Amino acid sequence: MKKIVLSGIRPTGQLHLGNYLGALQKFVRMQQEGIYDSFFFIADLHALTTQPDPALLHSNVRHIVAEYLAAGLDPDKSTIFVQSDVPEIPELYLLLNMHVGIGELMRTAAFKDKARKQLGITVSHDDDDNDVAREIIGNESNKRVNAGLLTYPTLMAVDILIQHADFVPVGKDQEQHLELTRRFARRFNSFYGVDYFKEPQNFNFGGKPVKVPGLDGSGKMGKSEGNCIYLVDEDKALRKKVMRAVTDAGPTEPNQPMAEPVENLFTLLRLVSTPDKVEFFTNAYNNCEIRYGDLKKEIAEDILKITAPIRERTKEIENDEQYLARVLKQGAEQARERAAKTLADVRGIMGITPFWK
Ligand code: ADP
Ligand code: TRP
Repeated sequence: MKKIVLSGIRPTGQLHLGNYLGALQKFVRMQQEGIYDSFFFIADLHALTTQPDPALLHSNVRHIVAEYLAAGLDPDKSTIFVQSDVPEIPELYLLLNMHVGIGELMRTAAFKDKARKQLGITVSHDDDDNDVAREIIGNESNKRVNAGLLTYPTLMAVDILIQHADFVPVGKDQEQHLELTRRFARRFNSFYGVDYFKEPQNFNFGGKPVKVPGLDGSGKMGKSEGNCIYLVDEDKALRKKVMRAVTDAGPTEPNQPMAEPVENLFTLLRLVSTPDKVEFFTNAYNNCEIRYGDLKKEIAEDILKITAPIRERTKEIENDEQYLARVLKQGAEQARERAAKTLADVRGIMGITPFWK
């Protein structure tokens, strides 16, 4: 039996370098290994938790499928599908929610962040769960935190468990959701006294999970951070973004520790360039001979080596509506096969198999 790989990305905009290096590149590598049964999908139901414009959601789904294919996902080797094409997922989500605690959901870091953003609140003690809960429950303005956002981890766990995935290649920021998935699987198994759901693991080819930094000095590259290098950025725009990256005045003594913005540039260099370039610029920094302009130029060119071919293929594929439709139809059928079986099993385990049929 082949091990199962599964991962998804929300269609909330064009894919950026963080999505690529943290997730999509791993998808493609895992597919190429040829030893897994792999499933890659567009998490459009998850996107609904932040209430996107319907027309935009629609075009984002199409765009991301095109980016998946342009980056090298192959419908003959992987199952490529859209989450909402698998109605078994929302049904299992309802069932699994019966075993998920609202407390544990409210303590999830991603939920706390997004809930605060939706309410526009700044909580004084950043890590005090009770403060966040009080703010949410007590908030009587017409802003609200929707229940879909709270149950986001249940839906993600279902995406994974419904296909019995062994490996879920995701970036570092998704590890807490994976931990919850394992907990839900264990809880379900022990509650019903079965050995049914597997506990999935992240996958990093033996390395650490990747966190691609933003170029604005601190934090990660992310859509909501507004600091993204997109896979479809044109050469000129991309070079301009990299050249504008925040740095400092340069080291004044040998082997000085790097300030965060500089460290971030080196992180990016390690991700996209060759080891000898990394060594060259590290030595230059340590000898106080670094020229940030040169470093940025190299980074920009090495990013373009990765992104420019993907950008050109995306343009072609995105306009081929018939091809996209064929890929997604086939993907939905394949994804539904195992999903239907899992749902039937779970209904049976939970005792809602209809005996009148
Ligand atoms: P965003 O944070 O821009 O909204 P998503 O949450 O949709 O992106 O992330 C989709 C995938 O890309 C996830 O597997 C996530 O871990 C990965 N990812 C997103 N941003 C980064 C980043 N800066 N570094 C590494 N991986 C990332
Ligand atoms: N939560 C993931 C993200 O924001 C997207 C996602 C939804 C996902 N369901 C998944 C990732 C299942 C891996 C497996 O990036």
